[in-house]
Amino acid sequence: MKDGVIKKAKEIFDFKNEIIVGYSPGRVNLIGEHLDYNGGYVLPCTLDIGTYGAVCGREDNRVYCFSDNFPEKGPVMFTLNKLIYQAEDEWANYVKGMVKELNPPFGFDLYVKGNIPPGAGLSSSASLEILIGLIINQLYQLNYSRIDLVKMAQKVENVFIGVKSGIMDQFVIGMIEKKAAMLLNTANLDYKCINVDFQNYTLVIGNTNKRRTLQSSKYNERREECNDGFSILRKKYHIDYLCQLKTKNFNESIDLFSDDIIRNRVRHVITENERTLEAFQALKAKNIQLFGKLLNESHCSLRDDYEVTGLELDTMVSLFQKFGAIGARMTGAGFGGCMIALVPNELISEITVKVESEYTKSLGLTPEFYIVNIGNGAKIL
Ligand code: GLA
Repeated sequence: MKDGVIKKAKEIFDFKNEIIVGYSPGRVNLIGEHLDYNGGYVLPCTLDIGTYGAVCGREDNRVYCFSDNFPEKGPVMFTLNKLIYQAEDEWANYVKGMVKELNPPFGFDLYVKGNIPPGAGLSSSASLEILIGLIINQLYQLNYSRIDLVKMAQKVENVFIGVKSGIMDQFVIGMIEKKAAMLLNTANLDYKCINVDFQNYTLVIGNTNKRRTLQSSKYNERREECNDGFSILRKKYHIDYLCQLKTKNFNESIDLFSDDIIRNRVRHVITENERTLEAFQALKAKNIQLFGKLLNESHCSLRDDYEVTGLELDTMVSLFQKFGAIGARMTGAGFGGCMIALVPNELISEITVKVESEYTKSLGLTPEFYIVNIGNGAKIL
């Protein structure tokens, strides 16, 4: 793969100095949605699809970025002394944001190529951010640790791009060391990994192909609502995060909420945190039926209490359940993008054909399905 990336990069750039090549995966979150900004547990894993990049240093302060995924845009150029977000630079803004954090001494020529479907909720942006962090860190021997790069990447999303996302995506992509799922406690960043063995079931990712418009504003709105819920409950409990509370605490505090919406958001957060821990135990005990049931419950909570699903995700999840998946839920931020389903191995093609046909018939959209494996973490190649 490394040689292929270098060859393609050399078709674009006249690389004269040392070339650094890196890889960074996409991710899917199995369960624990919208908890990483509430101090909760999440259970993501990296995929065997991702982003490759080759970089070569320059002697001036210019950065040229070329993506094989958007060749028509040609190389995007910016300079180290003007690192500001510009909508027309599209994907290159993630590079710019990371460069601003990394603060390299000189510019570089960058070639990237990825196979994560963009805008589908599989973290193509976090994958790109961590990739840039790794290869520029290596190129200029900047001595940042992995966790430094993860925190920089989150800051790029939060400040440079303006989506107040949590740390889950960047953390799992930047920190995971083996093909496993990661139970991450986002309150203190402790984590443990667990082998994913779904036995007679396969994880199918379904892309609704609904574009995620308004996603960032809705995402930030949910964060605000959680803050409101936290402020209410903090008066009663000594807590730093919503996820320190249990369902029992929530039930005892229902009268404190004058706003039903805030109450529902809080209920999602607290119950989802408990489901995530239960799902981890189920995976450990190889109780795949229970794991599937928890996926279904997670989706209901995200649909009814957190309201981040929408017609396309709800339709696809219901169709998978109807045709034989033992569990299905939206994954990622929601509002479109992808869902996951646990499908009996022998029924994969039968179920996906049926889901596709009914989904297209009722919504007029053509879905896509990916049968991907759990993959490695980010690395220099
Ligand atoms: C997006 C964000 C993550 C996380 C999920 C929802 O993927 O980038 O930080 O909040 O949504 O779980």
